[in-house]
Amino acid sequence: MEKNRAEWGSRMGFILAAIGSAIGLGNIWRFPYVVVSNGGGAFLIPYIVALLTAGIPILILEFALGHKIRKSAPGILGTIGKKWGFLGWFQSAIAFFISSYYVVIIAWAASYTIYALNQSWGVDTKDFLFKHYLEISESPMHLNGINYKVLLPLFVMWGVNYVVLRKGVKNGIEKANKIFMPLLICLLLVIVVRGVTLPGAVDGLNYFFTPDFSALANPKAWLAAYTQIFFTLSIAFGIMLTYSSYLPKESDIVNNAFLTGFGNCSFSLITGIGVFAILGHMAMVQGVAVKDVSAAGVGFAFVVFPQAINALSGAKGIIGILFFLCLIFAGISSSVSIIETVVASLQDRFNLERKKAINYCVGGAFLFSLIIATRAGLYILDIADYFLNNYAIAISGLLEIVLICWIKNPKEIIEHVNPISEFRIGRVWEFCVKYLTPCILSVILVLNVLNSLKENYEGYSTEAILIYGIGVLVIATGGAFVLHKKSNYEK
Ligand code: PHE
Repeated sequence: MEKNRAEWGSRMGFILAAIGSAIGLGNIWRFPYVVVSNGGGAFLIPYIVALLTAGIPILILEFALGHKIRKSAPGILGTIGKKWGFLGWFQSAIAFFISSYYVVIIAWAASYTIYALNQSWGVDTKDFLFKHYLEISESPMHLNGINYKVLLPLFVMWGVNYVVLRKGVKNGIEKANKIFMPLLICLLLVIVVRGVTLPGAVDGLNYFFTPDFSALANPKAWLAAYTQIFFTLSIAFGIMLTYSSYLPKESDIVNNAFLTGFGNCSFSLITGIGVFAILGHMAMVQGVAVKDVSAAGVGFAFVVFPQAINALSGAKGIIGILFFLCLIFAGISSSVSIIETVVASLQDRFNLERKKAINYCVGGAFLFSLIIATRAGLYILDIADYFLNNYAIAISGLLEIVLICWIKNPKEIIEHVNPISEFRIGRVWEFCVKYLTPCILSVILVLNVLNSLKENYEGYSTEAILIYGIGVLVIATGGAFVLHKKSNYEK
């Protein structure tokens, strides 16, 4: 165990950083559209079940491992079993690729903060996003050069990430979260208060909160809920392993995991209240049903929300700016955690100076992000995101559990956690991580493979899927293998 490892300055610092990592684009653009595509209120029950049976139990597991072994992801898994260092590198490689498109979405939000000033997106927000802003090319195989409207904010956002990381764990990441998180919550509350006081808001809220129990029989909603929980809590990416490795010795693991899990998911619910209230208003103005106004994915934040802002009768500019600032603050506090995972791995496996590790990671991820800043960027992002989130995460989560609960003994975790935690874990926790979650992850994997064999994701060409989807998985695996071979897990 390393003696002078960086540490958080306070318990609050760690909680804010962990919640800061969890709360991200996943809560603001992904959560609302996942809710919509799974029947509105019906989704909330599987979501809460997934939080309690997989989210919090795995957070406890990752916090315990990080706190106990105090190394980066490859270091932790490599200490448990030498061969398993590979899995840690695989997680770091996924984090590396995710960071390179994640920062691009934050850059879009930065442009849209400025567009929100006078709603330059006009009436046809879809046309504006695809044609005028992204200047989208005809297919993923036509890069058509770099789009300078994206490149400029991208440069700035990488700059912010770089500065925060360079200042270190306590003076950079912890401080940034102490500023961004309270600010984010204030901005969100303004949006929510404005939203719920709009005429028509109640229709949006009814749509969001009315449970439809029949939808519980649909396996799709359950799969979406578990995938969303992994994404939103930043678990199985090596991120929480890294953050908890900076915990001081006396740290209550179980409490911290509950605070992070509930903090993050309450944030999603509150965002949902604000967003669906505003959508309810828009549906009223346009004379349509709420379920018909919402579009999926990337379109949600950058197409539907600008439309909802157009429908407001006053303070349009302010609500628009606040919404996109929320995306930026939430995004940066997550992107630093994603990059820190890679930085920490290089730093402690290869004895690199922190500055050098940051230069390599930020430099490398920036270069990859240039591909996403081309005119085919949106397609490439969509394909890479799908493959990383639907395959890499399920595989990595499953292997992590197999290692800890089947090859090793989960009792070791219980023995580490209970003496330092106020609430004790026992059989229920063990059942969730040892049996329930691996079963669900296996089902997710099998269903995803079957789906992919049936049809190409979103009808993209096989060539595009092979390069940007499977190609990224192959490079992540190959890269992880090379780094694993070069690592020394003895220290
Ligand atoms: N959990 C964060 C989010 O919801 C960040 C994150 C996303 C981390 C994806 C890892 C992978 O946006």
